Amino acid sequence: MSRPMGVYEERRSDRSLRDLEGPASGLHVAIIMDGNGRWAKARGLPRALGHRAGVAALRRTVEGAADLGIERLTVFGFSTENWRRPPREVSELMGLLKAYFQSDIDRLEREGVRVRIVGRRTGLDPDILEIVERAEARTAGNHRFHLQVAFNYGGQADIVDAARAFAQRVQDGLARASDLDESLFEAYLSTAPAPAPDLIIRTSGEQRISNFLLWECAYAELVFQPVYWPDYGPDHLKAAIAEFQSRERRYGAVTGEPAAEDNILAAG
Ligand code: FPP
Repeated sequence: MSRPMGVYEERRSDRSLRDLEGPASGLHVAIIMDGNGRWAKARGLPRALGHRAGVAALRRTVEGAADLGIERLTVFGFSTENWRRPPREVSELMGLLKAYFQSDIDRLEREGVRVRIVGRRTGLDPDILEIVERAEARTAGNHRFHLQVAFNYGGQADIVDAARAFAQRVQDGLARASDLDESLFEAYLSTAPAPAPDLIIRTSGEQRISNFLLWECAYAELVFQPVYWPDYGPDHLKAAIAEFQSRERRYGAVTGEPAAEDNILAAG
């Protein structure tokens, strides 16, 4: 995978923490962590316990991702549509995000992980915002591994917000509508400046994208795994990477030698 030299050099300098040349070296993997509720139901437990077990799966998966050499992991923690869930469940999910950042931040900081929240910040409680922003500031100098949590995130909402922000710049006389192209537009998304995901995984057996990374998923490989998120771990991630590596990514182009018929046509 070709990357600008500067980025590669920066990563090499962090290598003392862990070997970055794993089988998934440099990849951006995104995960729709689905199935917490069904996992709990299958055990006769309240949904809240499914979400709590989901946090443990997240910890295992972050560790496993770094071991595989994955450079960036984006997980879908709470969607703009999840506000429609019962208030108790919404507050459980908010509480889990807060608790995760409070309990894990020292270790994440120590291990060279940079954390970032993507999505709409408006609408989040000030105490959550404060914890999240403190975690982002404390880990801003880390480069070994990037953990992005999509929280209060919706792909459509993110595109609308980006369009509004660009329109505002045009209105303020700071940009022209004709300046806009794909690369300028994506700079306005909350996921900027991260590269697009190479692989998007959805657990639980559902095969939908559910408003996740709509712009960014343009050329991502999709892998659907029939395992509830609380049971997920490094071995499942390894299997998803193996599936990803068996795919041929063409980005709309054609690869390989031209077929014999094409050579005949070209020769006239
Ligand atoms: C989908 O399962 C999962 C979610 C809506 C939330 C994911 C949250 C966690 C893994 C825990 C907390 C996250 C962070 C970032 C610390 P579902 O409830 O829709 O499951 P179901 O489809 O089986 O009902």
